[in-house]
Amino acid sequence: MNAPLPVTDTAAPQRVRQLPGPADKPPAHITVRGLYKNFNGSVIYENFDLDIPRGKFVSVFGPNGCGKSTLINLISGLIPIDGGEILFDGKTLAETRIGYVFQNYREALFPWMTAFANIEYALKLRHVPKPEAQERVRKLVAHLGVQIDLTLFPYQMSGGQQQLVSIMRALVVEPEVLFLDEPFSALDYEMTLFMREQLQRIFEETGTTMVLVSHDLEEAVYLADYVLLLSRRPARIAEYQMVPVARPRNDATLASPDFVELKRHCLEIFQREVRGS
Ligand SMILES: Nc1ncnc2c1ncn2[C@@H]1O[C@H](COP(=O)(O)OP(=O)(O)O)[C@@H](O)[C@H]1O
Ligand SMILES: [Mg+2]
Repeated sequence: MNAPLPVTDTAAPQRVRQLPGPADKPPAHITVRGLYKNFNGSVIYENFDLDIPRGKFVSVFGPNGCGKSTLINLISGLIPIDGGEILFDGKTLAETRIGYVFQNYREALFPWMTAFANIEYALKLRHVPKPEAQERVRKLVAHLGVQIDLTLFPYQMSGGQQQLVSIMRALVVEPEVLFLDEPFSALDYEMTLFMREQLQRIFEETGTTMVLVSHDLEEAVYLADYVLLLSRRPARIAEYQMVPVARPRNDATLASPDFVELKRHCLEIFQREVRGS
C-alpha cells in the first residue's frame, strides 16, 4: 500500500526556480542552482544556474581554463561543491546512476583486465552477481553492435577501441546521465571521426542525457542538441544555443548552411568571451 504523501510536500514552496527560456524548452533533468566553487580563493563558479534537459545532448564549450571540466566534475560529484544545489529530477546524486568517461583512456582502464572484465567491473562495483553482470555486458555489446574482441587487454587495443570500452563501461550501469570530458582528445583524427559517429549512434539508441566537454567547436555543435557556451572565469552562460539540426548527422551536415551558420554564431560568441569585450 502506498504511504500517504506528507502534507508539507504539496504545501512546500517550489524549490527549483525556473530559468527563463523558450516556451518549447524541454523538461530539465539536471538543475544547478546558485552553484559556488573556488580553488584556493580563485572563484570558478558564483551564483551559477543551469538546466540540462532530459534525454538531450549538451556540449560544453568555452575558453581554456574557464571551468568546463570543473562543471561536469561538480555535477558528477568527482569534486565537492562549495555552495548551491544540484539535483537530478529533484533527487540527489547519491540517488542517481551516472556514468563518466575520462579524457585519458590510457589511465581509465585497468591494464591487467581484459576489455570484457573492465566493462563488467562497473557492475561488480555495484554488487551485481557475476552471471547477471556478464549477461548485461554481452547484451550491451550486442545492442551497440561493437566489433571489438573483448578478450583483448587494453595494451592490445587501439586508442579508439580503448575509449569505446571506457564508454561501454560507463553505459553498462544504464546511467541516467553520461558525462564525457574531451573523450577523443588523445585520439588521431580518423579515430576521432569514427568515435563521434559511435557516440552519436549510442546517444540515439539509448536516449541517455549526455554532457560532453569539447575543445573542438565543430565537434561540440555536430553532436549537440544544445551548446553551452561559457565565459571566462568566473564562468557565466554566455549563450545556451539550441542546435535544431536533424539527426542522424553526417558529413553532409557539416557543410549544410544551418550548421555552418550555427557554428559561426558560436565562434563569434566564443571570440567575444575570449577577448572579454
Ligand atoms: N583541483 C584543482 N585545484 C586547483 N585549481 C584547479 C583544480 N582544478 C581546476 N583548477 C583550476 O580551475 C580553473 C578551471 O579548470 P578546468 O575546469 O579544468 O578548466 P577547463 O575549462 O579548461 O576544463 C583553471 O584555472 C584550473 O587551473
Ligand atoms: Mg578541461
